Amino acid sequence: MLSPLLLAAARSRRMRGLVTSMPLTRGVVDRFVAGEDLDAALGTVRGLDAGGLRVTLDHLGEDTKDRGQAEATRDAYLELFAAFAEQGLAGGADASVKLSALGQALPGDLALDHARDICAAAGRVGMTVTLDMEDHTTVDSTLEILGKLRVDFPWVGVAIQAMLRRTDGDLRDLVGDGSRVRLVKGAYAEPESVAHQSKRDVDRAYVRGLRTLMRGDGYPMVGSHDPRIIEIALALAAGRSPSSYEFQMLYGIRTAEQRRLAEAHQMRVYVPYGADWYGYFMRRLAERPANLVFFLRSFVSR
Ligand code: FDA
Repeated sequence: MLSPLLLAAARSRRMRGLVTSMPLTRGVVDRFVAGEDLDAALGTVRGLDAGGLRVTLDHLGEDTKDRGQAEATRDAYLELFAAFAEQGLAGGADASVKLSALGQALPGDLALDHARDICAAAGRVGMTVTLDMEDHTTVDSTLEILGKLRVDFPWVGVAIQAMLRRTDGDLRDLVGDGSRVRLVKGAYAEPESVAHQSKRDVDRAYVRGLRTLMRGDGYPMVGSHDPRIIEIALALAAGRSPSSYEFQMLYGIRTAEQRRLAEAHQMRVYVPYGADWYGYFMRRLAERPANLVFFLRSFVSR
C-alpha cells in the first residue's frame, strides 16, 4: 500500500521540495548515498576496495529537460574517470549511467552523444559502463542506444527489469558473447498492462531471467539482495567459471552479506553520490516500509 504512494512521491516536485528541505533527512539519506560530492564517494570506494568489493558509481540525477544539466552530468562522469585513474582505482571499476540524466527526453541524439563521450573516457582508463533502466516508457530508447554504443564499446552493460512483461524477449536478445546484463526486479511504479504486480510473479520472472542469462554466453550481473534469489543464482551458476558472472548490491543494503559473498565470488557495490539524491532515496524507501519507519523515527527521536 505504501510503496505506490512513495513511488508517486518520488516523481512529485512538491514532495521533493518538502523532503529535501527537511534538515534531518540528511542523516537517513547517508545510509544509502555515499555523499554529495566526488571526494566523499572516493572515500567510500577506497573502503570498499580495501575489503575486496568492486564498485559501480552512479552520479545521481535523472529526468533532466535541460541541456546544460545534461552536459553537467556528462562532465561529472568525465571527472569521476580522471579521479579514479589518478588514484589507481579504475581497474575493474564500472560507472552506472541513467540516460534520462544525459538528455534522453530532449530532441535529437543528445543522450547518445553524451553516453558515447562517457564510454570513450571510461574505456581510456580501463573502466566499464552500465546503463541503468528507468521506467517502461524509456526501455525501447535505452535498448536502441545500448545497441549503438556496443558497436564501438562492446563491454557496455544494461540493467533489465524482471517485473516487465517484455523482459523474457529482451533477455533472449541480450545473451550473446560478452553481453553484460544486470538483472534487477525493477524499482518503478508500472501499470499492470506492462508489468507483473505481485512479488511472487516478479520473483518467478526474475528466476526465469536468471536461467536465460546463466545458460547464455554473456556476463550475468545478479542485482538483488534477496537471499532466495542469491541461492538460486549460485545453483544456476554451478559449472560456469567464477569470473563469468557477478553479484551486485546497493550501497548500504545488506552490507554483511556483501562482504560474505565477496569472500568467494565477484561482488560489486552500486555507489550513488551527488546532490540530486531525492528520486533514488524515495525508491529505496518504497522498497522496504521499515525504511520509512526509520526515516520518520529520526524526526521524533530528536
Ligand atoms: P526485494 O525487494 O525482494 O528485497 C529482498 C531483501 O533485500 C529485503 O527483504 C531486504 O532485506 C533487502 N532490501 C531490499 N531493498 C531494500 C532497501 N531499499 N532497504 C533495505 N533493505 C532492502 N532498479 C531499476 O528499476 N533499474 C535499475 O537500473 C536498477 N539498478 C540496480 C542496481 C543494483 C546493483 C541493484 C542491487 C538494484 C538495482 N535496482 C534497479 C533496484 C531493483 O530493481 C530493486 O528495486 C531492488 O534491488 C530491491 O529488490 P531485491 O532484488 O533486493 O529484492
